[in-house]
Amino acid sequence: MKTFKTCLTSIALSIACATASAGEVEVLHYWTSGGEAAAVNVLKQEMESAGHTWTDFAVAGGGGESAMTVLKSRAISGNPPSAAQIKGLDIQEWGELGFLTSLDDVAAAGNWDSLLPPVVSDVMKYDGHYVAVPVNVHRVNWLWANPEAFKKAGVDIPTTWEEMIASGPKLKAASIIPLAHGGQAWQDATTFEAIALAEGADFYRKAFVEHDEATLKGPTMVKVLTTFKQLRDLIDADSSGRDWNVATSMVINGQAAMQIMGDWAKGEFTAAGKKPGTDYVCVAAPGTAGMFTFNIDSLAMFTQSDDSRAQAQKDLAAMVMDPKFQETFNLNKGSIPARQGMDPTPFDACALASMDDFTLSAEKGTLVPSMAHGMSTSSRVQGAIYDVVTNYFNASDITAEQAAEKLARAVNASL
Ligand code: GAL
Repeated sequence: MKTFKTCLTSIALSIACATASAGEVEVLHYWTSGGEAAAVNVLKQEMESAGHTWTDFAVAGGGGESAMTVLKSRAISGNPPSAAQIKGLDIQEWGELGFLTSLDDVAAAGNWDSLLPPVVSDVMKYDGHYVAVPVNVHRVNWLWANPEAFKKAGVDIPTTWEEMIASGPKLKAASIIPLAHGGQAWQDATTFEAIALAEGADFYRKAFVEHDEATLKGPTMVKVLTTFKQLRDLIDADSSGRDWNVATSMVINGQAAMQIMGDWAKGEFTAAGKKPGTDYVCVAAPGTAGMFTFNIDSLAMFTQSDDSRAQAQKDLAAMVMDPKFQETFNLNKGSIPARQGMDPTPFDACALASMDDFTLSAEKGTLVPSMAHGMSTSSRVQGAIYDVVTNYFNASDITAEQAAEKLARAVNASL
């Protein structure tokens, strides 16, 4: 098999031939963990091999809240980067503000409309024009398990939330932390939305896409919140503030048995040289088999006054959609390519399952946009949900019924 470097060179040569003048690209992103850094390095190498100058503007902080804060200050000061990791409905917000430049010429030359499913291409457009390029499709509703840990404790990997809760005592008796978790609002929300999805895609959409008040405060949401709170018995006392990739490393080293996290976690297993099926197991989050919560990473392009920077921006967008880049980046990132029709051969069993479920869930109506990762609702509504969910998860004096009422009120106030 060709090495990653060989593949990269071939892409760069194709881009370099088309690049009249080299330029500089400054890219803001929050891909700073082991697997993420390996993935973004693919893009950096590509652009440098094509003769451009890459200025890396990495802002650590899982979920991207810190990165977005820094981006806003840069944009307001009239000095935005060339490109930024902006995704989901945030693209509409930035487009509305007039900061983003059109990529329609690159998209037409690259036949993006024929290579991207509408569920992806629609997210990349503001007012009908491409303003962002998709690098991947992440699946969020995953459970990552260490099979040795479960074997040691004599319990099966859970397929329902009730089984997960019931597995706690035996895992603890074997001195294993049942659930690796990072006590950060976006991670709380990632777990919360998986529990909600287990109640069905229709319930999920009514809550997090349609913001239906009766659904947000109804008995099913109370049940979801009750289950969510019970997970506290599965996490360790040091989880507060823990970064997601540190939680993943706890599963990798067997200190913890499992983690609910998107498949950027797989990038950490890959970076650690672990193999799916032997060193770890990927299964749908409990109760969500056959369903797919999508989270599409994308680079949105900010209008540049300098011609060489503008050209470098277009080369960057063209490069991201190149099949070899889509393969190499996603092999490192743990996600699947946004570009359809790719050769599945290089991808592992978890990625192949993700590709299959992405297609099948779209056909069955169980493909849903991630609320926790900015796909289903605005950043304002997402922030309101984050606040209610994480305060409830950490408080001892808020009942599930009270939390559901707060959820409905907070979402309504943020619309
Ligand atoms: C998600 C993002 C992923 C990964 C993850 C952890 O929102 O889409 O690419 O960065 O956060 O930070």
